[in-house]
Amino acid sequence: MTVEMIQQVSTVDLRLPPRIRFGVDCIKDLAGDLVSAGYGRVLLVSCGGVAGVCDDLRVALAARDAAVEAYQPRDREPTIADFEAAAKALRGFNADAVVGVGGGSVLDLAKLLAAMLSGGQSIDDVFGADRLTRRDIYLTCVPTTAGTGSEVSPNAILLDEREQLKKGVVSRWLVPDAAYVDPRLTVSMPAHLTAATGLDALTHCIEAYANRFAHPLFDTFALEGVRLIGRQLERAYRDGDDLEARSAMALGSLYGGMCLGPVNTGAVHALSYPLGGEFHVPHGVANALLLPHVLAFNLPAAPQRYAAIARALGITDGDDETVAQAGIARLAELCRVCGIPRSLSQLDVPREVIGRLAASALTVQRLLVRNVRHVSLSDAEQIYRKAFAG
Ligand SMILES: [Fe+2]
Repeated sequence: MTVEMIQQVSTVDLRLPPRIRFGVDCIKDLAGDLVSAGYGRVLLVSCGGVAGVCDDLRVALAARDAAVEAYQPRDREPTIADFEAAAKALRGFNADAVVGVGGGSVLDLAKLLAAMLSGGQSIDDVFGADRLTRRDIYLTCVPTTAGTGSEVSPNAILLDEREQLKKGVVSRWLVPDAAYVDPRLTVSMPAHLTAATGLDALTHCIEAYANRFAHPLFDTFALEGVRLIGRQLERAYRDGDDLEARSAMALGSLYGGMCLGPVNTGAVHALSYPLGGEFHVPHGVANALLLPHVLAFNLPAAPQRYAAIARALGITDGDDETVAQAGIARLAELCRVCGIPRSLSQLDVPREVIGRLAASALTVQRLLVRNVRHVSLSDAEQIYRKAFAG
């Protein structure tokens, strides 16, 4: 069945935070909103890079007589052990609200804490889809990158250090109650993070649009995300203070995040997970490096979809096949100008592990079943080989 045919018959859920507040300086409303909604014990989960924002938030909450417990996880993608240590340390505070301020890793941790601090489930019970049974604590997410889309998605990822694999929890209980998307918070993000997180967001949009479960309800968001990020990422990368470019990126990232729950991603993400799990290649970098190679592999299965993506990137001349090919070349060029390495060997990944990477990627069937083209073990090996060749 083609993507278009599936679109006509499939049913999707639009499950988003009941409140999405978007705009420059909207973070300033958060403390007042929380307290006036009746929350008085706030667990603030953040990363080191946003200390100023969190200090302001803490002062504003304290001025309204709210108790605040601040927690700063280690600056890395969170492991299962990190989550368990945080949960143990924070359970006694009895938070009635969790606020996550940071990049995707921090938000994922905040989401899991809000869902599991008061419950009886262990983290091993909830990996996979729809296994979380409840969340009693109010959850607000404030992204400081643009981004993972975690602030609106039902997903959270932890690293299983024993298996060297990233594992996902997917649940409607992980969709936050509120997302405050303030583009000004992304201004201080360094250029390399702007590139990696921006290309992750772009990959969300592309993989949601060219997807076996693509749907008209989300196609509009996905294509608009491609258009915004495709045109503004380089600007935001070159000048981090450009608030107009930052706002476009924040919006594009939000659109990508909105597609994650109902449609999700595909082979780019599936093949990137083993690179993150075993070699700690940052998620956005792994995606960006794989993106042109996976798209070239996928193209014969959905030329119209990839042509529409290319047109959203501004390429207009030619038939679908020609335009789509030019779109893939444009994406490769965007990765290059944003400083993404061309080859996996530049990231100290040895060639000898291709077989192991491919076998590991094939276990990520929750995403591979969504890919527009079936990916076999030898296909995955071939794509990794191309990513080594650059
Ligand atoms: Fe992603």
